[in-house]
Amino acid sequence: MVKEIRNVAIVGAGVMGVQIGLRVAAKTHNRVSITDISERALERSKEQQEAVLAEMVNRNLLKVAEKQNIEQRIAFTFDLKQCLAGADLVIESIVEELAAKRKLFQELDALAPPDAILATNSSTIPVSRIEDVTRRQEQILNIHFYMPDRMPMVDLMGGTKTSQETMEAAERWVTSIDSVPIKLKKECLGFCMNRIWHVARIEALKMWAGGYVDFKDIDRAWMIFTGMWAGPFGIMDSIGLDTVYNVHMVYYNEDPRKYGFHKPPDRLKEMIDKCNLGVKTGKGFYDYPDADYLNPDFLKKRSG
Ligand SMILES: NC(=O)c1ccc[n+]([C@@H]2O[C@H](COP(=O)([O-])OP(=O)(O)OC[C@H]3O[C@@H](n4cnc5c(N)ncnc54)[C@H](O)[C@@H]3O)[C@@H](O)[C@H]2O)c1
Repeated sequence: MVKEIRNVAIVGAGVMGVQIGLRVAAKTHNRVSITDISERALERSKEQQEAVLAEMVNRNLLKVAEKQNIEQRIAFTFDLKQCLAGADLVIESIVEELAAKRKLFQELDALAPPDAILATNSSTIPVSRIEDVTRRQEQILNIHFYMPDRMPMVDLMGGTKTSQETMEAAERWVTSIDSVPIKLKKECLGFCMNRIWHVARIEALKMWAGGYVDFKDIDRAWMIFTGMWAGPFGIMDSIGLDTVYNVHMVYYNEDPRKYGFHKPPDRLKEMIDKCNLGVKTGKGFYDYPDADYLNPDFLKKRSG
């Protein structure tokens, strides 16, 4: 019997780890513990959390007392063992590389309570590629978040041995954080919406890299077409260009003949090599914090 989820451990305090932690602590009474192998990343994520909550208070979206409650529910620790102690659900959210995830899941399996559910927030990798390094293959699955505040939906996908009980517990938990569970009926690289969006995204990258259209005009077109707050390049900056690159390489490496079109253009790699990774480094396609597409006049202007 899978017990009720009260304690959530998040491993990886990057772009997503922080956002997931905030969503969970804001929507439930779950206790959240976040860890990272980098002390610097852990520090940055604490600062980011503080900035997000302070901004919400400033904009009257959150009362000071609610902010304090949220903060009290989230703990940051550099100690993996401490992070996992008492966890009912562990969410891995580290770099999008299969080898790194497999190594970490071996540790998670050894250190997390035996009845804890282990989940990966990978953007593409099915948990079936990871499950065999653990001894709890019935309690492991993909729980893939989109941007928790802007897109409150979560893909759920089991591995080859994930129990129905685990899937149901995950579905209940996702609903409890006020998000919509999107259930995959069969294993699929990239899950549901990501699979569709990644195709559009690689086309956008190739149109930019090939010099067909200015990236800002692609963003304008996308924003007008979909009504979204940003276009593919603004969204990629929010995700992190290194993560975008790794995600497309997961498809490509899976089967270069089938997924050859996912190979990212060299120009993207050049930006990553210069450490222009998007919002997290202050520069990507746009400069932050005052990126052009955030300006209400963005849609009225021409490229440049
Ligand atoms: N960025 C997004 O918008 C987004 C959305 C959905 C899913 N994802 C997925 O979530 C995962 C994390 O993405 P991100 O954007 O937060 O990446 P990120 O690069 O911002 O953060 C990853 C963090 O993991 C840490 N890390 C690496 N190895 C570790 C280990 N062994 N133990 C503990 N910490 C470790 C790094 O120090 C880093 O702080 C990836 O699998 C990605 O595909 C990302």
